[in-house]
Amino acid sequence: MKKDLLKLLDLSKEDITRILNTADQLKYEKKHGVTQDYLKGKTLAMIFEKNSTRTRVSFETGMFQLGGHALFLSGKESQIGRGEPVADTARVLSRYCDGIMIRTFGQDEVEELARYAGIPVINGLTDFCHPCQVLADLLTVREHKAVLEGLKLCYIGDGNNMANSLIVGGLKMGMEVSVACPEGYDPAPQVLDFAKSDSAHKFSLFRTPQEAAAGADVVFTDVWASMGQEEEKAVREKAFQGFCVDAGLMALTNPGCMVQHCLPAHRGEEITAEVFEAHAQEIFDEAENRLHAQKAVMYLLMQDK
Ligand code: CP
Ligand code: NVA
Repeated sequence: MKKDLLKLLDLSKEDITRILNTADQLKYEKKHGVTQDYLKGKTLAMIFEKNSTRTRVSFETGMFQLGGHALFLSGKESQIGRGEPVADTARVLSRYCDGIMIRTFGQDEVEELARYAGIPVINGLTDFCHPCQVLADLLTVREHKAVLEGLKLCYIGDGNNMANSLIVGGLKMGMEVSVACPEGYDPAPQVLDFAKSDSAHKFSLFRTPQEAAAGADVVFTDVWASMGQEEEKAVREKAFQGFCVDAGLMALTNPGCMVQHCLPAHRGEEITAEVFEAHAQEIFDEAENRLHAQKAVMYLLMQDK
C-alpha cells in the first residue's frame, strides 16, 4: 500500500528515526560525490497555494539530485484555483506522476488528496502542521547535540503549524517540550490532547516566555502572523508583545542552547537581530537540512519496493 507524509501524528518514533537516519546517509553520500539516482525517471508534482522559497527549492533540487523531476503547479495558474475538486486533481496527477507535494491552507484538503491519490502525498505545510520542516529541525538538533531524547525543546510564540509539529515531533522523540503562547493563541486541541495522552510525555504550556525557556537546550520561534493571517497583523503585534527571543531570554537557557527558526524571520518581532546572527550557523544548517530530510522522505515513500 502507498504511504503518505500528512502529519507527524501519523508517524511512530521508529518511523521518524528511519527518516532521520536515511537523511544522514543521503547527506553523507551527497557530500562525498556519490550518484544518487534512486528515483530515476520519477516525477513529483508540487502544488503551491501559498508562497515558498525553501520548500520549493529544496524539493525541486532534491528530486533532481535523486535522478527524478519535479514540476511546479501554482494554485492560481492551475485548475485548482478555478475550483476543480481535490479528488479529481488527485486522480489525474496519479496517472502522470509518482508523488505529490502540497502546500495549502486546510489539513482536510491534504487528507482528501491522499485519500484519492494512488501515489504518495507529502504535506509541504498547512495551517495545522509543517512535518517536513520539523523533520529537518530534529535532524539539525540531533546533528548538533548527538541525541534528542532527554533534551528540552522550547517553543516561544504562536501556537501555529510549527508549534503543533514541534510538540508532536519532540514528544515522539522523547524530548521534554515547553511552550509559551499568549492566551488565545494556543496550539491545536488535537495536539494538546496528544501531549496529555501519555504519562511519559514531558509537556508544559506557559503564558510567559521566561518560564518556558528556563533550562532549554534548543529554543524555537516563528512569525507572529502566518501566511493567510496578514489581516490580523496589527492585533497579533499587540498580543505577542514580550514574546521575543532576545539575549535576556537566552540567558535563562542551558549553556550551549541552540536557536532554530524555520524562516522567514522577522527581526525585532519574534527574534532579535542579535540572537538571530549569533545562531545563524545553526539556523542555516536547519534550512539546508530541509533538502536532506525531504530527500529521505521521497526516497522512503517513492522508491520502487
Ligand atoms: N520554512 C519554510 O517552509 O520556508 P518557505 O516558506 O520558504 O518554504
Ligand atoms: N508559520 C509560518 C511558517 C512558514 C514556513 C506560516 O505558516 O506562514
